[in-house]
Amino acid sequence: PLVSMRQLLDHAAENGYGLPAFNVNNMEQVWAIMEAADQLDAPVIMQASAGARKYAGEPFLRHQILAALEAYPHIPIVMHQDHGQSPAVCMAAIRSGFSSVMMDGSLEADGKSVASYEYNVDVSRKVVEFAHAIGVSVEAELGVLGSLETMKGDKEDGHGAEGTMTREQLLTDVDQAADFVKRTNCDALAIAIGTSHGAYKFTKKPTGDILAIDRIAEIHARLPNTHLVMHGSSSVPQELLTEIREFGGDMKETYGVPVEEIVRGIKHGVRKVNIDTDIRLAMTGAIRRYFVEHPAKFDPRDYLKPAREAAKKICLARYEAFGCAGRA
Ligand code: G3H
Ligand code: 13P
Ligand code: NA
Ligand code: ZN
Repeated sequence: PLVSMRQLLDHAAENGYGLPAFNVNNMEQVWAIMEAADQLDAPVIMQASAGARKYAGEPFLRHQILAALEAYPHIPIVMHQDHGQSPAVCMAAIRSGFSSVMMDGSLEADGKSVASYEYNVDVSRKVVEFAHAIGVSVEAELGVLGSLETMKGDKEDGHGAEGTMTREQLLTDVDQAADFVKRTNCDALAIAIGTSHGAYKFTKKPTGDILAIDRIAEIHARLPNTHLVMHGSSSVPQELLTEIREFGGDMKETYGVPVEEIVRGIKHGVRKVNIDTDIRLAMTGAIRRYFVEHPAKFDPRDYLKPAREAAKKICLARYEAFGCAGRA
């Protein structure tokens, strides 16, 4: 059944686990997530970004998630809109049937300029009022995603703050988080702790100064009933980078968020963990390998099958690690 995000995150909080929220753009990704969830009896959050809407179009995304609901009627599924840049975008998603939306007011509607705190409170509260009236959940974001190594806002996949940031901007402030949640009444709060979107998060395996898991613990101590969300939480597995390079890809040295650090975050109140890049890497590695090993093949089904199996493997591993098995 289609459920609100609040329902799943409340259950996760009561039982001390976290949920991966996977981005979806096409049928193969939806298939991989659902097959993994079905195998482990895990609940599902699928989310559509602005980029996904641009690629597939909102009707194709929505109907693929509706197809998953029909094909797996026993699994609770949240249809979530990722990074809504304005109340209007969120309201359009709610109207079309999404059970959860993110109002990302950390940036202005241009998706580039850091927003004022009052603007963020204002747009987030507005979406919460509208959404809650009809049982839809709202994720808001406080703090700017970006690297504590380079002090640059997150620009990897075309959205995120421009220019150089301060450490204050790149780490969600505890007092401000308490005020923000009180004033917006959001269901889940995305926080900035040094992660960023895309494959290039850290130039080395991250340590506490550039990946501030401790900040999660501080926010959770102050806001024990708020569901925290980690964005930019792909782990960028080295073996996937190796596979991509081995079969002709060109990717620089890079590191993601180690799964064990996410698990620490979950111990301290993280309930939703956003993952897109790891599925991209898994599919790309599998397709590159397939093309090299089977140069005569040309049916997309032949190479999309190993691609979706590789994506499923990532989903299985994250569901297991975050404690979702048997929770559906
Ligand atoms: O929010 C970030 C996700 O990785 C989605 O990225 O806008 O390229 O679809 P995208
Ligand atoms: P990654 O790029 O680390 O997978 O993060 C995805 C995300 O945060 C989507 O909102
Ligand atoms: Na989100
Ligand atoms: Zn994100």
